[in-house]
Parts: sequence; structure tokens; C-alpha cells
Amino acid sequence: MNDVLLARDAVRERLGGRTPAVAIILGSGLGGLTDRIEATVRIPYGDIPGFHVPKVEGHKGELVIGTLGGKMVLAQSGRFHMYEGYSADENVLPVRVFGALGIRTLIVTNAAGGVRRSYGHGTIMLIADHLNLTGRNPLVGHQRPGEERFPDLSEAYDGALRQAARDAAGRLDIPLEEGVYAALLGPSYETPAEVRMLERLGADAVGMSTAPEVIAARALGIRCLGFSLVTNPGAGYTSTPLAHKDVMEIAGRAGKELARLVEGVVAAL
Ligand code: HPA
Repeated sequence: MNDVLLARDAVRERLGGRTPAVAIILGSGLGGLTDRIEATVRIPYGDIPGFHVPKVEGHKGELVIGTLGGKMVLAQSGRFHMYEGYSADENVLPVRVFGALGIRTLIVTNAAGGVRRSYGHGTIMLIADHLNLTGRNPLVGHQRPGEERFPDLSEAYDGALRQAARDAAGRLDIPLEEGVYAALLGPSYETPAEVRMLERLGADAVGMSTAPEVIAARALGIRCLGFSLVTNPGAGYTSTPLAHKDVMEIAGRAGKELARLVEGVVAAL
């Protein structure tokens, strides 16, 4: 049996025959969202074949299943970043497992640097589109069952879900920007010249995740919604050097607003 099905069966065994309505991937420091989930089941990655126990601070390493906004959700707390040496396939294994479980909606979150100059600490950006500059694509290799070979990405981030996000932000009085997320491999932060390059390329925020996950989800026909939490102005915009611990701190604080927004969107689905 392949990696996806082995992992799926380990998760399915704990779901009690129910299929979550939505999967949510939690970015760096955004694990606080799980506090809003009335958790019924927590599955440590160690219990899921093929899932690695994360080593990056701010990424926990468990799937949390429970109720959020009145819906059954599955939250992925801990990513397998390609900058840790994981392949694109390993990076998107959870997304493929969500697909195999029958989950049809994915909400992806990340911490990001601000490329748009008006974005500050804690700006929440609805992802309108992405630039995949990681140099990797999870669909390279043999075509997996249920995946399209050449998926259309002209609306990778679902238009109706984005409208639901704008509506929820309005209802909850949460300021929401909208822009393009550039995904780079990392793990070094960008140089100021790279941030200026990204600005010219049309990016509004920059980070080290999300694009491959959304590509894999779209190949499976899963509809996607994405949010970036801007934790810092891009490199070179201020004299403050970038540090992961500051990213984590801002994500922890401003992440509470994003968690409220995600709950509002899920409730309206
Ligand atoms: N660049 C890339 N990734 C990030 C940043 C950044 O400035 N901030 C948080 N994640």
C-alpha cells in the first residue's frame, strides 16, 4: 500500500467514521488556532506512518480534530518544510491524506514577510494568488491516482471562499488585505535586493510554504483558501534584522485575530 493510504488509514481509524468538512494547515506560531477547536481527537505525528516529528520551533506535530464554528475540522499543526530537507512529496503528504479522507476544502495559513510597503506587523493578507519560486513542484514524478497531470491554477485560491473570507472579516471587524504570496525555498530570509525583486514581480508577501500544498490540493480538486499573517516588513525595509523568534512572537499575538477570522469563515461555509 502506498504512503498516502497508510497514513489515511491511521487517521481514519481515529475519526469514528466521520469526514471533517475542512482541513486547516497552521503556519509558524499559528498553533494557537487549535485553542479555538473543541478538540475531540489529537493524533501525534508519531502515530501516522510517513509523518515526521517536526524540529522547527513553533510547529507542534499533531493533527487536531474537533469542532470549529460548528463544523468538524482537522487542523495540521506542524509542516514538513522543504527547507528542512523534505522533498516536495513529503511536504504535501498531509494534503494528499486529506484528499484521501474525502476532505474537499483546505484553508492554508502561513507567517510571511511584507513585500507591499504598507504591510506592517500583524497585517492579515488574504491570498489572491501565488508565485511558486521554490523551484519545486509536488506533481513532478509519476501521476498519482486521483490527481490531474496538468491542473489549472488560474483560480488556485477559490473565488467563492475568498468572498466568504471578506464577508467574515467585515462581520468581525477584522482588517483584511488581499495580495499575492511569493513562496521561496528558504531557510535564509531574503536579501533586500530579493525583496525589491519580489515587489517588481508583483508579490505582496513572502514566505517559505503554502504554494506546493495548494498545487497538490488543486491537482486533487480540493478548493483552497489561504491567509498570510505578516509578521515583519520585508528585509531591507527597516533596519531591524529578521529573527525567527520575533516572527513567532508576532504570529502568536496577531495570530489570535487570524484564528478568529478562520473560525468566522468556517462557520459561514
Ligand atoms: N521572509 C520569508 N519568510 C518569512 C518572513 C520573511 O520575511 N517572515 C516570516 N516568514
